[in-house]
Amino acid sequence: MRSLPIVSCDVDPSETVDDPIPLAARGTRGVPGWLADRHGRRLRYLRLSVTDRCDLRCRYCMPPEGVPASAKEDVMTFEEAVRVVRIFRRLGVETVRLTGGEPLVRKNVAELVRMLRDEAGIQDLAMTSNATALRVHAASLVRAGLRRLNISIDSLRPDVFRQMTRGGDLDRVLDGIRAARDAGIAELKTNTVVVRGHNDSELPELVQWAWGEGITPRFIELMPLGEGAKLGRDAVVSVAEMKARLKGLARTGEAAAHRADRGPASYLTDRATGTRKVGFIGAVTDNFCHRCNRVRITARGQIRACLASPEGLSLRDLLRDGASDDAIFERIEASLFEKRSGHAFFVPGQTRHHRVDMSRIGG
Ligand code: GTP
Ligand code: 5AD
Ligand code: SF4
Repeated sequence: MRSLPIVSCDVDPSETVDDPIPLAARGTRGVPGWLADRHGRRLRYLRLSVTDRCDLRCRYCMPPEGVPASAKEDVMTFEEAVRVVRIFRRLGVETVRLTGGEPLVRKNVAELVRMLRDEAGIQDLAMTSNATALRVHAASLVRAGLRRLNISIDSLRPDVFRQMTRGGDLDRVLDGIRAARDAGIAELKTNTVVVRGHNDSELPELVQWAWGEGITPRFIELMPLGEGAKLGRDAVVSVAEMKARLKGLARTGEAAAHRADRGPASYLTDRATGTRKVGFIGAVTDNFCHRCNRVRITARGQIRACLASPEGLSLRDLLRDGASDDAIFERIEASLFEKRSGHAFFVPGQTRHHRVDMSRIGG
């Protein structure tokens, strides 16, 4: 077996006997506009899944037959989602990223974007999409207030793309990307999950293409969540190996500093221009849990404090049981205070994250 320099965070606190966190390092509760956990991490970036349906079946994310989609009545309505986000806004969340499944599968999603801007007061609105339906939606999304789009694209070779997505049409994705640019989206990035033996030879090509299109390319280590776990550890390409494959082409220079309002990617800047960047998300070998600023909500309205947690508090049930905003505010604060310190990918005996269904949590 290929050996990976695995760096893992602490295990789930609920699975440890002794509390590893010294009292002095604990977070603060009850400070208005400051949502933090007991590890002192401030949470200000909400990832909101709007559907667990998807039109693709990427091998690291979904089984070939798909996963049973939630019944319509189980999924949060736009009004419920906006109410929840308004409460998170009071708790200091300033960035909302819409995810899926595939968010564009949700009917009228641009209207939700508008509501989040106008009714929940969120200015930094982003989406992660596979772009197959972007041609149709790009202009209305931008008009509604969407500023940033991350697009999943695992290959520029139609046959490899089709194979990795189990049937996806690369041309539609490329056309969707053009539509987003034409619509004037403020920021465009790509996500490529690098899987050994599938697309690991394509990194230089993807960088050149993305830079040519004015897009920031990013490469992601395959995470052992759900279907991803079934591909095995040998399929993981470490960020170190990705960078080695890009040598001489990317001529990357200094890493840009991490932003407190963004996700986990680390960026290297092209020395030739000083502006073009390549991003790397090394969840397996370059653990970033210590600076995690994120919280997730599934399409069914369940909080997932950590990507690696297979369960969490149901906000939808609280809403539907008639809880007040203040009561929900307090439940959110209490539940996120207990956010686990990090994942335990590839830690022997730790398999809880294998139960995480990426298509329900949206990455
Ligand atoms: P920006 O920084 O705002 O562009 O967003 P992002 O990179 O957080 O969002 P995106 O949905 O594009 O995520 C890119 C990849 O990072 C996906 O594979 C996510 O699953 C992964 N990712 C995002 N947040 C986390 C996290 O908290 N933990 C882990 N392990 N992976 C994450
Ligand atoms: N490992 C890494 N990234 C994944 N994604 C989905 N499943 C995995 C996995 N097992 C990525 C998608 C998309 C983002 C939301 O998450 O490719 O870009
Ligand atoms: Fe780590 Fe969990 Fe945060 Fe991801 S969501 S960075 S796995 S703590």
